Amino acid sequence: MSWMIAFLLLAVAPFGIASEGIDLGRSLKTGQGAVVCVERQGARIGAEVLADGGNAVDAAVAVGFALAVTHPAAGNLGGGGFMLVRMADGREAAIDYRETAPAAAHPGMFLDAKGNIDPDKAGIGHWVVGVPGTPAGLAMAHAMFGSLGWRRLLQPARTLAEEGIEVDAVLADGLCRYQENFAAYPGSARVFLQEDGTPFELGQVWRQPDLANTLRWLQEGGVEAFYRGPIAVLLAAEMRRGGGLLTEADLAAYEPIVRQPLRFLFRGYEVLAMPPPSSGGVALAQILGQMERGQLSPAEGRSALALHRLAEAQRRAFAQRAQYLGDPEATPVDVAGLIGVERIDALAASIEASASPSEEFGPPLTGGPPEGHTTHFSIVDRFGNAVSNTYTLEESYGSKVVAPGTGFLLNNELHDFNLRPGQTTRGGRIGTAPNLPRPGRRPLSSMSPCIVLEGGSVRLVTGSPGGRTIINTVACVLWNHLGATLDLEASVAAPRQHHQWFPDLLRIEGGIPLLVREELRARGHRLRVVETQGDAHSIARDTTSGRLHAVADRRIDGWVGAVRRVREDPDD
Ligand code: DON
Repeated sequence: MSWMIAFLLLAVAPFGIASEGIDLGRSLKTGQGAVVCVERQGARIGAEVLADGGNAVDAAVAVGFALAVTHPAAGNLGGGGFMLVRMADGREAAIDYRETAPAAAHPGMFLDAKGNIDPDKAGIGHWVVGVPGTPAGLAMAHAMFGSLGWRRLLQPARTLAEEGIEVDAVLADGLCRYQENFAAYPGSARVFLQEDGTPFELGQVWRQPDLANTLRWLQEGGVEAFYRGPIAVLLAAEMRRGGGLLTEADLAAYEPIVRQPLRFLFRGYEVLAMPPPSSGGVALAQILGQMERGQLSPAEGRSALALHRLAEAQRRAFAQRAQYLGDPEATPVDVAGLIGVERIDALAASIEASASPSEEFGPPLTGGPPEGHTTHFSIVDRFGNAVSNTYTLEESYGSKVVAPGTGFLLNNELHDFNLRPGQTTRGGRIGTAPNLPRPGRRPLSSMSPCIVLEGGSVRLVTGSPGGRTIINTVACVLWNHLGATLDLEASVAAPRQHHQWFPDLLRIEGGIPLLVREELRARGHRLRVVETQGDAHSIARDTTSGRLHAVADRRIDGWVGAVRRVREDPDD
């Protein structure tokens, strides 16, 4: 590379990459609206919708579909998730588009004849596919709050699928890692592998014509095409072929649910979070409520004492999660009691100077945490409308099954149900009745999209992937920014921690200083250093000036798309 090019790159890099009306970068400030997500094209597409005069929900719909093309490990059509919306005029919604169990699901569905968990039923493949919620959820958001046309919002995703995208390092790594799994299913091999059976590689152009066609069907026929039309026919046929439970009737019966966001106060801020069937909102309210009662000053926010109290708060919240939370349509969940003053006072009062053994909160358990993948994006527009969206296929690339002709992966979300009735596992899987697979039920989730308000205006939008660690990642970001008063970049970058009751150990990211680790050990915590935890793409808003600071988490390959100016006439 010539010195001139090197100079230009260096000169441009800190300020991001300019495109018409938008800037792309890793940490950008703007007054005009911003999108932050796991991947660059998604950030660009979302920001372009905002620059075209669309609102935050329009951008969320476009990003949701785009990531299904560019980030197939987690971006999806065949999965589900939660979208929290807060409009500047005060309207708000927690759109639950979690997958549901097919009508043939039953509590013993993951067991073999001897009553043991059957790995063939509880892992990947057709058996664990829940009814996808993503197309219905995005359509619901659009119908409730959207301002630009549905076809317009799906077009960028369709174009990328048609014209192809350059395989980046994250995608190349995933395709290589799951090559054998994809090879096992003809529909998946057709999408992810080349004719000689090898995966597409870094730098190659990867086209997805079947997915482009699916997106065209969705543009032309709306979600009916997915749930009652040609896509439903293809999905059901593949399920019959592969021995899955999902049928055309299950697809036709799917409905997203618009819920009231769960809300709680923390240090004078109003936090909007996801109610059940996510455990996220309840657990966040309990963790931050316990932290507030610790009365730590901002200067103490990252001290060993603060991290000890955070670990103890996490331990207690996860014990509660395991005992009380599930799909509220199955068993009523006493959310008000779980996040009420008395409960949180009692939890906080039980925190001591040293670590409490997890057995104090319930019997010892067995098992381990699952591997997985999910993705979160945050959007705020120039009007002050905000979207916080987390969606998933459950594991990376979900069930690994693509129904031939559809071009998209199906989830393995049924895996989030209790696999064996009556057994709560060391990994935090719940064995109580509310989280057993039954027809139409939603499996308990940890996804925790979150929007914080100050004086009625959006102050912070955040969320993360990471299975059960999601709750603690979001708690860390909220604590760092609102409790320790770190700026947003530092709040996202700061090393994270995760305690989930069982196993009784505190997982920490490597950046936690050695002296702090020593004190945590001295207080009785068993530490395990992990490579990374979560991927929290976040936006903070200065409520006085209205200016936004959008920060991509660098733990995967996050990008910000920030609007520089809004086109007066979108047709220009
Ligand atoms: O809903 C849930 O909590 C999980 N299915 C999410 C899985 C996940 O985040 C894996 N992530 N990286």
